Amino acid sequence: MILKRSLKKQRIKMDEGITRVFKDHEEKLKINSQIIGLHVYHYRSLESTNDLAFSLALKGLKEGNIIVADRQTKGKGRLGRKWYSPKGGLYLSVILRPDIPFLRVSLVTIFSAVSVCSVLRRLGINAWIKWPNDIMVANKKICGILVEMDSTIDRVKFIITGIGINNKVNKSDLVHIATSIYEETAQLISNKDLLRFLSEELDKNYAIFLKQNYTYFTDKLKAMSRMINKNVILKVNSKEHKGKVKGFDDDGSLVMEINKKKKKFLSADNVKVLG
Ligand code: BTN
Repeated sequence: MILKRSLKKQRIKMDEGITRVFKDHEEKLKINSQIIGLHVYHYRSLESTNDLAFSLALKGLKEGNIIVADRQTKGKGRLGRKWYSPKGGLYLSVILRPDIPFLRVSLVTIFSAVSVCSVLRRLGINAWIKWPNDIMVANKKICGILVEMDSTIDRVKFIITGIGINNKVNKSDLVHIATSIYEETAQLISNKDLLRFLSEELDKNYAIFLKQNYTYFTDKLKAMSRMINKNVILKVNSKEHKGKVKGFDDDGSLVMEINKKKKKFLSADNVKVLG
């Protein structure tokens, strides 16, 4: 009941304009960053942080703003899938406005994935990046990334990078192919601290991204991927491609060897690592 009322209040405030909306939600967090995380808007519950970030970006909200929610009622995954978002997870979306061509957008997923993976490794978790957008521990997923954007025909207007991390999610809420920070470390880290670590890492990496040092990220991806020289099956538009991973290109695409020929994939619907 209380929740319903607060959601209604949010919606009314939304209509009143950006500045009013944020007065009640602005989170005072000491984040040491230049762009990402200078303002964090925290909600107890949202349908989807990506959706709110997108509509606020359309209204002109600046880059670096973060929308975070304790839970989502309509969390979105890639390819129209749902992202189950119970309390205990960290669900955030960052607004970015880089002046980049359309073709570079997939690198935003990569720099987000590298940032999450670095933070998790610093927490002692043996995380790796399953290209293009999953962070794994062994064969279990701990984080998913959903990048959405608005663009003209060739340039980007804004990008939303949405990140969902299983922090202290109840074991019964995790499917068998998922894990959480708590499951892996038996340590409780608050969402606030996790958000601070992640914002600072994203901010540092975004500065590198803006300098167009793209190989920095593809090198990191290579080091964090565990897919190099592994046989994989990629599903792209319901077609399967089987081959060996040879590396990653500067635009973030995966390079595979199929029947002794190199083939590039900018994205995939499903990736199976065979070993
Ligand atoms: C995936 O693995 O398919 C991507 C999952 C992305 C989930 C995050 S949670 C925060 C942000 N808001 C959403 O609705 N989705 C992303």
